[in-house]
This record gives sequence, structure tokens and C-alpha cells, in this order.
Amino acid sequence: MANGQTQNQILALLKEKKNYVSGEDLSRLLKMSRAGLWKHMQELRADGYKIEAVPHEGYRLFAVPDKLLSFEVGYHLETQLVGKKIIHFESVSSTMDEAFQLGLQGAQEGTVVCAETQSKGRGRLGRDWVSPKGKGIYFSILLRPESAPSEVARITLLCAVALCEALQKETGLDPKIKWPNDILLNHKKLAGILTEMNADTDRIKFLVVGIGLNVNASRSHLPPEATSLKIETRQAHSRIKLLQAILRSLDFWYADFKKNGFEPAMMKWKEYSSTLGQRVRLCHLKETVEGQAIDLSADGGLLIRCDDGRTIKNISGDVQHLLS
Ligand code: BTN
Repeated sequence: MANGQTQNQILALLKEKKNYVSGEDLSRLLKMSRAGLWKHMQELRADGYKIEAVPHEGYRLFAVPDKLLSFEVGYHLETQLVGKKIIHFESVSSTMDEAFQLGLQGAQEGTVVCAETQSKGRGRLGRDWVSPKGKGIYFSILLRPESAPSEVARITLLCAVALCEALQKETGLDPKIKWPNDILLNHKKLAGILTEMNADTDRIKFLVVGIGLNVNASRSHLPPEATSLKIETRQAHSRIKLLQAILRSLDFWYADFKKNGFEPAMMKWKEYSSTLGQRVRLCHLKETVEGQAIDLSADGGLLIRCDDGRTIKNISGDVQHLLS
């Protein structure tokens, strides 16, 4: 795996020069033999980097692999916390489990675990998250907020805001949030967020927030209710650029929450919401109610004015949007 520090230095040098860099210069800068350099180049090529070697000219990088490699995602990322450490896997069971283990081992806040595919990607409420190889962005981030467990829903909503804002900036599209944190495009599910927590009764030890975004998947890859950026826009999108935009946006909104609390993110959530103002059906504790979604509660729950006159707060589960 070409993800060592030396390979990163080689890639940085090749990217900065844009043109040929002589083997002699590289050997000198990296303090290694020409044979050692050649070995590293072979490892980078094995990872999918296209590097040409021309006698008397040197090396030139002309294509990078379409993978969420930590060097590519971290290159000029310039975040304060999110993605300072990025761990990339070809395949995992679920990035949630990898990040959770790292959380238990004391890994630094903001660590990101991403994968090209997941064999057991999971969603909320025990659902599966289909993760076709190289077609989506599947990652989990480790957060250590100084918050009570009761505040966890708000952090998830904040991540939904960050995701929508990044998508909007990067693609010009108009994503919406279906309560609590489904990201919809043209009424179909484009992305989802899953939060898992390690906590005492009064204090979060750490959170793992997992995001799955369908990028270049085609219809046959996805369940019927889902969509992808490629399906909606009829063009492929750079997963690296998108992931960078998402990490920057998460970095911004998480820092904003630490400084200003949840209020700004909650206001933004309401702007992106496709649920507020809608007629909804809620199946809750063996009871099914219908009514209008009127607001978010302070803890991130959904307030519904039921047809029977009651106003209820729903903090978990799903709602169905109904035609009014
Ligand atoms: C949902 O909408 O139900 C949440 C889906 C979350 C999927 C992501 S993909 C990366 C991370 N790993 C998982 O197994 N799940 C989350």
C-alpha cells in the first residue's frame, strides 16, 4: 500500500512541479538512492497512480486513481480538525466499526475512516446501506463533543446541514433534508447519516457519525427509493472533490457549534428541511398518527400537530411524507 510518508512526499513533489522532476532531484530531496526511489514509484503505480519515467527528463504524474486515498483527500484540505487524519480501506465490513474501535483506542477527534466498499454497510433502524465499490462515498468520523447524550440528535442534524451545504456548493444542486437526516434530491434518497455513541449516563465519550452518499452509482446498483448524483445530473462526479467539500463543511459547522451552540445549525436545518410544513404519517409505539410537521424541538425532535388536536414530539424513528 503506497500510503507511507515517503510516498506522500513523492506525490506532493510531483504535484507541485506539475512537469517532470528529475530522479536526481527527487533522490536528493528525499535523501534516498535512485533504486529506493524506483521502488516507491512502483508502489505508487500499484496503487493506481500513473507516473511516467522519461530518460533525461525524470518522473511526471499524469493521473491519480479514482479512489478516496488519504493523500488525495487530505491534499490542501486545510481543515482545523476534521480529516487531520484519514484512514482509507479498499473494503471493510462497515466504516462505523473501524471508527468505533479507533474511538475506544483513543484516536484523535476528527479522524475519518473511509472505504471504497462495505460488505455490511448499515443504516438507521437496522437497515442495510448498499455500498457499491467505488461508486459512492462511505465514511465515518470520530467526534468527541463535550455534550450530554441527550444532545446527540442535534449533532446529527448539524452533520446533515454540513452535508447539504457541501453538496450545494460543489454541484449547484438543491438537496433537502427529510427529518431526521435523510438527504433527498428530487424526492429520492441521495445520502444518509448514522450516529453511534459511546457514552456514560451524563457524558458522551465519543460519537461516530457515518455518512453514505450515492455518487456515481447507476440505478441497478441502488434500492428503488434511492438515487445518486450521476442518475440525477447524468454526469459523473469527482468523489475526492466531494469528500473534501464535505469534510470542510463538517469542520466549519462543528467549530461553529463549539463556539456558538446549536442555534445557527438548527436555523440552517430548517431552511433545508423538506419535512417542516408537510403532512406526515408517524408510526410510533404501535400507534399511527397523521398531522402536520410544524417545527423542530430544541433537542432535534420533530413537533407534529396531529389531526386529533394533540401536538406530539417525535425523537426517533421515521416519518412518511404524505401528499396534502
Ligand atoms: C441511513 O440513512 O439510514 C444512514 C446511512 C448511513 C450509511 C453510512 S455509509 C458509511 C457508514 N458506514 C456504515 O455502515 N453506515 C454509514
